[in-house]
Amino acid sequence: MLDILQKRRSIRQFEPRAVEQEKIEILTEAILRAPSSRGLNPWEFVVVTDPLKLQALGKAKAHGSGFLAGVPLAFVVAADPGRCDVWVEDCAIAAIILQLTAVSLGLGSCWAQIRLRPHDDGRSAEAHVRDVVGLPERMVVDCIIGIGYSRENKAGHARGSLPFDKIHHECFDAK
Ligand SMILES: Cc1cc2nc3c(=O)[nH]c(=O)nc-3n(C[C@H](O)[C@H](O)[C@H](O)COP(=O)(O)O)c2cc1C
Repeated sequence: MLDILQKRRSIRQFEPRAVEQEKIEILTEAILRAPSSRGLNPWEFVVVTDPLKLQALGKAKAHGSGFLAGVPLAFVVAADPGRCDVWVEDCAIAAIILQLTAVSLGLGSCWAQIRLRPHDDGRSAEAHVRDVVGLPERMVVDCIIGIGYSRENKAGHARGSLPFDKIHHECFDAK
C-alpha cells in the first residue's frame, strides 16, 4: 500500500486508449469494498465511457473539470443523502479507494470536485452532472474520478517534501 501511495499523483492527461473491461471490473469491485458508516452504502456510481458524455462532464465547471473531456473512463460518485447523514465521507472514501486501485492497475486518475461547485451563475455543477448521467433529483453528486493511461510523467511526492510539521504527538503543538 505504501508503494501505491508513493506513486500516486493527480493525472489530467491521458492516452486515447480505452481502459480494459477486466480493469473496469476490478475498479468496480474495489469501490464496493469501501467501508461506509453503519454499512449503509449510500453511494451510487455511474461508470461513463461514452466520449460525448465525457465531454459533457468536462463542462461541469468553468475550471477544474475540463480534463474529463480527455479521459477514456470516469466514475460519477453520487449518493442518496436520505440513506445516510455522513454520505460525504462515505463517497470520499470510495473515491480515494478508486484512485488508489487505479494506481495499482497502472492507471492514472484525477478527482473533479462537483459538490458545492457552480456550473455557471444560474446552475450548480451538480445539476449539470445530474442531467448528463440521468440522476434523479433526490441524488447528490460528490465528485467525478477520471481514469486512464497516463500521458504525464509525474513522480510521486518526495518524502522530504511531505509536511511532517502537520503531525503532532500526544497534543497539538502550535509552534
Ligand atoms: C477533495 C478534492 C477535490 C479536488 N478537486 C479537483 C478538481 O476539481 N479538479 C482538479 O483538476 N483536481 C482536483 N483535485 C486534485 C488536487 O488538485 C490534487 O490532489 C492536489 O493538487 C495535489 O496533487 P497530487 O494529487 O498530484 O498530489 C481535487 C482533490 C481533492 C482531494
